[in-house]
Amino acid sequence: MAAARTLFLLPGDGIGPEAMREVEKLIPILNERGGGFETRSGLVGGAAVDAHGAAISDEDMGHALAADAVLFGAVGGPKWDGVPYEVRPEAGLLRLRKELQLFANLRPAICYPALADASSLKRELVDGLDILIVRELTGGVYFGEPKTITDLGNGQKRAVDTQVYDTFEIERIARVAFELAKTRKGRVTSMEKRNVMKSGVLWNEVVTRTGKDYPDVALDHMLADAGGMQLVRNPKQFDVIVTDNLFGDMLSDVAAMLTGSLGMLPSASLGAPDETTGKRRAMYEPVHGSAPDIAGKGVANPIAMIASLAMCLRYSFGMVTQADALEAAVAEVLDSGIRTPDIMAPGCREVGTAEMGDAVAAAY
Ligand code: NAI
Ligand code: MG
Repeated sequence: MAAARTLFLLPGDGIGPEAMREVEKLIPILNERGGGFETRSGLVGGAAVDAHGAAISDEDMGHALAADAVLFGAVGGPKWDGVPYEVRPEAGLLRLRKELQLFANLRPAICYPALADASSLKRELVDGLDILIVRELTGGVYFGEPKTITDLGNGQKRAVDTQVYDTFEIERIARVAFELAKTRKGRVTSMEKRNVMKSGVLWNEVVTRTGKDYPDVALDHMLADAGGMQLVRNPKQFDVIVTDNLFGDMLSDVAAMLTGSLGMLPSASLGAPDETTGKRRAMYEPVHGSAPDIAGKGVANPIAMIASLAMCLRYSFGMVTQADALEAAVAEVLDSGIRTPDIMAPGCREVGTAEMGDAVAAAY
């Protein structure tokens, strides 16, 4: 018998558990089709803080490290505003990212035809859009040293952040982008600012050199500011975009809004290969947060969480057919006019979280 595929579920707090429940409905269906998934659940964020005063326990951290993939809901909220910084719900997410060494953040921007009119761009610019932003997540200006604020003593202060990238960091993120492009339209656009940043010069050089190993992938380079403009002017020109931590943070948020609601957007974070198994560590999560304003009301859109499971099937388990089928089920449900309140439109039928999850499960 093949070894089970292990999924570690960390629903978190706020709408996280509500959304995760809809993913849990899909696991038995996958297993009926030979998925062979074994799941285990743990506590993270506010749920963990309330239970044992830490944003994730060492035991659950161990489960996350041992699992084939982690599915993460959401964490955070005003309820925990008063707790010390180290045990804030967000600390759980940061610890997971750090210990799983999740250096590659994948943010797809996909436009479901049924929602093309909800975009801030014209329908023809976004209908059929399918791009993937690959953001470097563990280096760059958010982490580089020195990182200081100094009092200059003359009523002035000086703040310093440092952008640092080493060759290996650029090469490994570039390889992720090229590998992904091979399974898509075969195009990578690398974005940096080599005109004003030394790290941009090195980025461009390393990505170009790495690209020679992928002769079947077309590579071009764009200055990141021009890239931002092109994302809004003509987003369908892109397939895979690879960029650093800072530019990726902004460009992925821009790309996200091309397609509408936060409740629709999944993400993946891929890590270094495990030393013994060679399997890449990975965590999948919706882009949205814990939405305290609607938590507990049963109205959250579970599609971002469900689409995160689809990414997990695709990238951690190579189950491309099942991933495609799950995304097609979501598209079918949207086409049928079923909507949670965040994506409600005239003539559609408004449903809650559980009913949306049931509809996707039925269409799957
Ligand atoms: P948020 O994403 O939680 O909510 C922003 C707005 O979008 C709210 O009006 C919310 O109701 C709506 N929304 C979000 N997801 C939705 C869904 N699935 N269905 C329907 N509506 C949805 O961001 P916000 O309000 O800035 O942050 C709330 C808390 O979440 C904060 O504590 C923040 O730190 C945390 N957060 C956590 C993240 C994570 O766990 N990865 C990411 C972003 C924020
Ligand atoms: Mg951001």
